[in-house]
Amino acid sequence: MAAKRRFQTIKGMHDLVDKAPAFAFVEEKAREVFSLFGYREVRTPVVEETELFVRGVGEGSEVVGKQMYSFDDKKGRSLTLRPEGTAPIARAYLQNNWASGPQPVKVFYMGPYFRYERPQEGRYRQFHQIGAELIGDPGPYSDVELLVMLLRFLEELGFEDLEVGLNSVGDVDCRERYSERLREFLEPYRDELGADSRRRLETNPLRILDTKTPRERELLEGAPRLRDVLGGPARDHFQVVRDELEQFGVDFEIDDRLVRGLDYYTRTVFEITSADLGAQNAILGGGRYDGLIAELGGPSVPGIGFAIGQDRLVDLVLKIPGASARLNAEAHRRQPVCVVPIGSSYRGHGMVLAQELRAAGVPAICEFDSLRPLKARLKQAARHRCRWIVLFGEDELVAGTVVLRDFTNSTQETISRDGFAATVKARISA
Ligand code: HAM
Repeated sequence: MAAKRRFQTIKGMHDLVDKAPAFAFVEEKAREVFSLFGYREVRTPVVEETELFVRGVGEGSEVVGKQMYSFDDKKGRSLTLRPEGTAPIARAYLQNNWASGPQPVKVFYMGPYFRYERPQEGRYRQFHQIGAELIGDPGPYSDVELLVMLLRFLEELGFEDLEVGLNSVGDVDCRERYSERLREFLEPYRDELGADSRRRLETNPLRILDTKTPRERELLEGAPRLRDVLGGPARDHFQVVRDELEQFGVDFEIDDRLVRGLDYYTRTVFEITSADLGAQNAILGGGRYDGLIAELGGPSVPGIGFAIGQDRLVDLVLKIPGASARLNAEAHRRQPVCVVPIGSSYRGHGMVLAQELRAAGVPAICEFDSLRPLKARLKQAARHRCRWIVLFGEDELVAGTVVLRDFTNSTQETISRDGFAATVKARISA
């Protein structure tokens, strides 16, 4: 009979095993910091109507044009695994009538997102984001506060000296004006542009600005700058953001070529990159989207937010000595005590002891396989990374004791069965 085929994860999607504690660690920190700023956690479905992203994120964007996991359901409706979190939050704002609650609305979220991209280090088809959105305030102080919160989160994780790349893409009319100028500027060089940029020259010239091609970068050096065509209100907004960020001691650099890949952005946009990440170097990105909610059929309500690539964030956190030491200490604290009954008739009693340890808040597992020699069972406990073993058999039961063994230095002591959980707790936390 042919062997049955085994299954693998889908290309670009991964089991999180060794990294799972670091994922949980950054999530907890996000909850702690974001709630200090009055944000509440929300969760939206992983699947949405395809049309939400087509209209929200924009047909011209790579994400919608090339990267969506879309499929028809049994009724023939086109659905999509969410490639990003902002359009779903804007949908939730309208659907749940958040406009009738306290303003501005401040929410954060975390979970899996899906993009059909070519997988490589730091770029996956299922990846994870931690994001936040502030909806309902058009003013620049919200931009500043959001960035201050974001940096506070990253500092608490142990990041130092992060620099924010900042730009303003202006309002829709500034962008149209600028796109026209850029098109005029690039037209004479059309033949020197790559296929992607030639296409963008027609559809969305702004996106040519973040090209990685050396020749195109060179050409763009002489290009008109977006910030020189910003209209008065967008320019004033940007000026306040810059001044206030300076007041708050935030390090940032104006990056004229920063335009972001999703079509909903207006005015302030930002990204944080890390040289430690390789080719996929963006830890996070965000910005204002003052037209998005209207685009989705709602009133004209402004918003701003960011999303952090959690997979990339975790890879970086694991390289920070302080953060990985904290994670190790936490893993150590969670190592279970292993209860080893000697003799098959004491397995039930072993379970009682393990329950008493758990009731005292001490993680505990039980080694039930009493048919194997004791040595093999202790080895098994070591494989579970148990440092402490509670051993007992007939002699101990009669004497009203148990034996507590410390694996690391092979010492052991006999302790009273009465109140043993408290004694074990004291020993392991000494
Ligand atoms: P985004 O720049 O498309 O923005 O994604 C944010 C972050 O998600 C990126 O900086 C990156 O770290 C991570 N990321 C994106 N694609 C992948 C991938 N294939 N594999 C691994 N990580 C990835 C947004 O999604 C916007 N919704 C952010 C936002 C919120 N703007 C306003 N509010």
